[in-house]
Amino acid sequence: MKILVINGVNLNLTGRREQGVYGTETLADIQSELDGFARSHGHEAFFFQSNIEGEICTAIQNAEGVYDGIVLNAGAYTHYSYAIRDAVAAVRVPVVEVHMSNVCAREDFRKRSVLTDVCKGEILGFGKNSYLLAMESFWI
Ligand code: DQA
Repeated sequence: MKILVINGVNLNLTGRREQGVYGTETLADIQSELDGFARSHGHEAFFFQSNIEGEICTAIQNAEGVYDGIVLNAGAYTHYSYAIRDAVAAVRVPVVEVHMSNVCAREDFRKRSVLTDVCKGEILGFGKNSYLLAMESFWI
């Protein structure tokens, strides 16, 4: 399988920002681990990060017919981006929503995701392992 891992706004700062919440590993570190994890199971992982909402929509649109699944951590866009929601709903590629932190145990505004009900599923609260579990969900 070919899995596209999309990271949204501010996730390029992973490893530097709010280390108590998101850990000390960089996005590059996490992506390298995901790459190895996918390969070890006979699959391929591809990566895209952007702070720009429209670019994330374009990446989701372009995934149609190319990838078997998308792992999506939209960052704060999760909580209010109807554009990303519509992009997810528009493609036939299954999308699994991911959060490193347990957003349900944080500020009220994080408890609402506008993406969850158009996604195949959601994994949250396991740090970088949220990505691993989401990837694995495509082939278990
Ligand atoms: C996040 C949670 C979001 O609320 C936050 O805006 C992020 C990261 C997570 O991975 O826990 O940027 O998606």
